[in-house]
Amino acid sequence: MGRRTVVSGGGTGIGAAIAEVFAKAGDEVLILGRRAEVLEGTAKRLNDAGGHVTWHAADLTDPEQVAEAAELAGDTDVLVNNAGGNLAATPAASLTETRDQWLTNLSGNVLPVVLPTQALLPRLRRPGGRIITISSIAAFRGAASYGAAKAALHPWSIELADRLAPEGVTVNVIAPGFVPDTEFYRERGTPEFFAGRAAAVPAGRGGTPAEIAALVAHLASAEAGFLTGQVIGVNGGAWPGTK
Ligand SMILES: NC(=O)c1ccc[n+]([C@@H]2O[C@H](COP(=O)([O-])OP(=O)(O)OC[C@H]3O[C@@H](n4cnc5c(N)ncnc54)[C@H](OP(=O)(O)O)[C@@H]3O)[C@@H](O)[C@H]2O)c1
Repeated sequence: MGRRTVVSGGGTGIGAAIAEVFAKAGDEVLILGRRAEVLEGTAKRLNDAGGHVTWHAADLTDPEQVAEAAELAGDTDVLVNNAGGNLAATPAASLTETRDQWLTNLSGNVLPVVLPTQALLPRLRRPGGRIITISSIAAFRGAASYGAAKAALHPWSIELADRLAPEGVTVNVIAPGFVPDTEFYRERGTPEFFAGRAAAVPAGRGGTPAEIAALVAHLASAEAGFLTGQVIGVNGGAWPGTK
């Protein structure tokens, strides 16, 4: 049996691809998310393929639910903070709506990273533990409150990397570009929208969840022990500032 890995938002999209890559490597994987039926389906699919995947439903913005999930996770080698999303993608029509959008995106993207990390930190393997957080290209070039919320994770991660480096724990951030095969775009994800987004990427296409997962796997590997405190883009060349 390999490592014990926790993947937040592991039921869908990028998180499910991350869970798959660790399950295929022989890790014990715990996937977290709010929807039990989604997590159960993903765990079943990965276990049918020979994985060792368990699941637990929790809203990771809630301290009590995070504490329960961390208790269940126990000793952990790799924590992948992937849960999040743009919870306010349309322009606000009023000051109240603006306030609500900012609070929603800040709490929905910062708390599911900061709370599980704090809760699991005492149980993270030393030396050799890994914390990998999924941010976004939006942290560098837009998307209003969503981009700002993701950007908040960068200095937080760098400070944590600095603090944990002497203990042999690495902390890194991946900032994906456009990854269409996810639930991220929801009702915005029409064929025309996806075609426009793909055309704006220098590589001429969106990335796949597996392409993000491959970098997560590398950052989690023993070979990546000197790689810490970094924010790494995976975006088909849409970097920096290109549209
Ligand atoms: N797709 C892209 O183009 C793209 C680009 C850059 C960055 N990202 C980032 O990549 C990460 C993964 O997103 P995705 O693209 O794979 O979209 P996704 O399919 O919507 O995945 C997001 C996952 O996070 C879970 N989640 C969200 N809030 C949660 C909470 N409070 N507590 C527990 N689980 C929560 C969701 O499950 P439940 O709804 O069941 O809780 C879902 O499984 C996100 O952080 C996103 O911001 C995506």
